[in-house]
Amino acid sequence: MRMYDIILKKRRGLVLTAEEINFFIEQYSRDKIPDYQAAALLMAIFFRGLDAEETAALTLAMANSGDRADLSSIPGLKVDKHSTGGVGDKTTLVLIPMVAAAGVPVAKMSGRGLGHTGGTIDKLESISGFRVNLDPEEFISQVNNIKAAVVAQTGQLAPADKKLYALRDVTATVDSIPLIASSVMSKKIAAGADAIVLDVKTGCGAFMRETEDAFKLARTMVSIGKRVNLPTVALITDMDQPLGNAVGNALEVKEAILTLQGKGPSDLEELCLALGSQMLLAAKKVKTDKEGRQLLLELLKNGKALQKFKDIISAQGGQVEVFDNPELLSKADLIKSVKASSDGYILGIHAEMIGNAAMLSGAGRETKDAEVDLRAGIVLHKKIGDKISAGDTLAVLYTNRPEKEAEIIRIIQEAFISGSQKPFLPPLIHGIVK
Ligand code: URA
Repeated sequence: MRMYDIILKKRRGLVLTAEEINFFIEQYSRDKIPDYQAAALLMAIFFRGLDAEETAALTLAMANSGDRADLSSIPGLKVDKHSTGGVGDKTTLVLIPMVAAAGVPVAKMSGRGLGHTGGTIDKLESISGFRVNLDPEEFISQVNNIKAAVVAQTGQLAPADKKLYALRDVTATVDSIPLIASSVMSKKIAAGADAIVLDVKTGCGAFMRETEDAFKLARTMVSIGKRVNLPTVALITDMDQPLGNAVGNALEVKEAILTLQGKGPSDLEELCLALGSQMLLAAKKVKTDKEGRQLLLELLKNGKALQKFKDIISAQGGQVEVFDNPELLSKADLIKSVKASSDGYILGIHAEMIGNAAMLSGAGRETKDAEVDLRAGIVLHKKIGDKISAGDTLAVLYTNRPEKEAEIIRIIQEAFISGSQKPFLPPLIHGIVK
């Protein structure tokens, strides 16, 4: 088999066999195929696409390229959750303890942030002492003892995806539906759960800007799940404005704690209830979505979900005092309010611009290996539909980069779009694919 022939076949729009796809992934993983040939195939796939069978074959080949987590010593159905990435998306921090408090084991492997989107592992590291690297035995035994653990995903999980993703990043081939779907699902399959709940974001802060594309991506991933016998359900959710109010690591942990105390922003709580009840359904803990929501609401009200978050933080060495004294999640030195310049209503908050402003404040990574400032970020004080008067605080900036202050404030101001008519509120959940 020759890589040249595989590239030519896809360039002509023909369907690749599973053998050809396996050959590509195996040889590329072992550095036997050069980046220029892999890049040529990626570009051919970008333009010609992959059918359902090819996409499933690519997913499995990548899932099999490294270790597979073995969660079989954890009794019960294990449900994983994945978000395609957004701004202010701290749902995992709220969902893990909520679902674990309902008695469903959660063995979660999470990633770090890149570009304008954040990552759960960076957020958790803003809690002093929290260990994101547990060895596999400790990981499993923590899930068996307290029903939940969250660790950084290792490079040994779907390493072919890691290598290909880096190549896609520099060859303008990231935003291809079959490539995104196989990338996400290969990691989920390797992570070993029994069912997956996906949060596919749509809007200006998401990979998929158009809702129709988000549905296509969701359908592709759900269909991969069916083909490999991994029950998968996807919610398509809004990322036209940031989720909740806080954007930035320590600020988001604080907001997650507030949400578990029943005092969080309503959009964040609503999304956590919707995703959480799907996780309980997938784990066969409840029979209906309504039953799932009721159970989760009860766990928020009686403090059991909050207690579960404390147990997780404590088990992984984090400073539990942050629950009673959130100021320990220390703030940046420079704190500046961004003010409204006229009266009216908020019509839109450009999520990607807020994500970029947060990145400039130090909260995100411009490149893969950049350091993040866990204390930096932005807290929104207004959301779409809110009435404003000139001089009202739209958002507060937290940064340790005084030299960037003017630039960040300008971006935040531009991200807020206002007008005189009260707008219709955008739906938080666009639909479900199962
Ligand atoms: N997230 C992933 O894991 N892979 C992609 O290709 C895009 C987003």
